[in-house]
Amino acid sequence: MDTNVQKRRENKKSLRVKVISLGNAEVGKSCIIKRYCEKRFVPKYLATIGIDYGVTKVQVRDREIKVNIFDMAGHPFFYEVRNEFYKDSQGVILVYDVGLRESFDALDSWLAEMKQEMGSQANMESIVFVVCANKVDLTKRRVVDESEGRLWAESRGFHYFETSAQSGEGISEMFQAFFSAITDMCENGGKRPTPEVSVGFTKEQADTIRRIRNSKDSWDMLGVKPGATREEVNKAYRKLAVLLHPDKCVAPGSEDAFKAVNEVTQ
Ligand code: GTP
Ligand code: MG
Repeated sequence: MDTNVQKRRENKKSLRVKVISLGNAEVGKSCIIKRYCEKRFVPKYLATIGIDYGVTKVQVRDREIKVNIFDMAGHPFFYEVRNEFYKDSQGVILVYDVGLRESFDALDSWLAEMKQEMGSQANMESIVFVVCANKVDLTKRRVVDESEGRLWAESRGFHYFETSAQSGEGISEMFQAFFSAITDMCENGGKRPTPEVSVGFTKEQADTIRRIRNSKDSWDMLGVKPGATREEVNKAYRKLAVLLHPDKCVAPGSEDAFKAVNEVTQ
């Protein structure tokens, strides 16, 4: 075959992508990447200083993918270094530690930081997100359960995996699904394909269930100011009842949330 034709075909099949890792300091971002790329685990904590950069090649179907991995430091101190690296990413690995609730709660602010830094470039529909509920090997200290993590991720159209960089659980499955979704997206004209199985509930429903679960008192549960009038409480209740009624809402945890709202308004 003509070598130029052959080269063109090969080029068509090869793909270069950029992925970044995000999440609080010490949740295990670098260890997840190390486990995948180097098949090893380092128990000692070595904080990433600014950014770690690495390249790896993976095969997805008939394509060779060259992956540029930018492993971000989670510490707030490195914000100035990190913010340069958000743009032009096709994939984001969002990591939290299942034993630290604040690292899970921080996922929203990581997304917000990313959106802010990308500015007008922020087209979240052209990025594949995978959420890693990490350190699942430490079962005794787990505080964020699978349903809560999965709900947060899937209600946003993100992939969800339970992982342990220590044991290796979920790591290769996560990366395989991640790279395959990025390849699908690139083949789909840069738009994230809608998941084959729709989750069947909305982000608003998922976020409301999460807020109710974590509410500190009845006012907080209803989403009203302390001392709100009966009328305001009734209004909030009606809105929640429509949103979470078990006949209308199939999100995991909706029944408990609906029950809890009914109890505080009685
Ligand atoms: P920054 O670079 O500071 O943002 O942290 P990071 O998110 O990259 O964390 P890193 O990968 O350095 O891991 C932090 C600590 O958690 C280290 O002591 C790791 O050995 C430990 N660790 C990471 N993943 C796991 C895991 O799955 N299980 C257990 N038991 N420990 C883990
Ligand atoms: Mg790190």
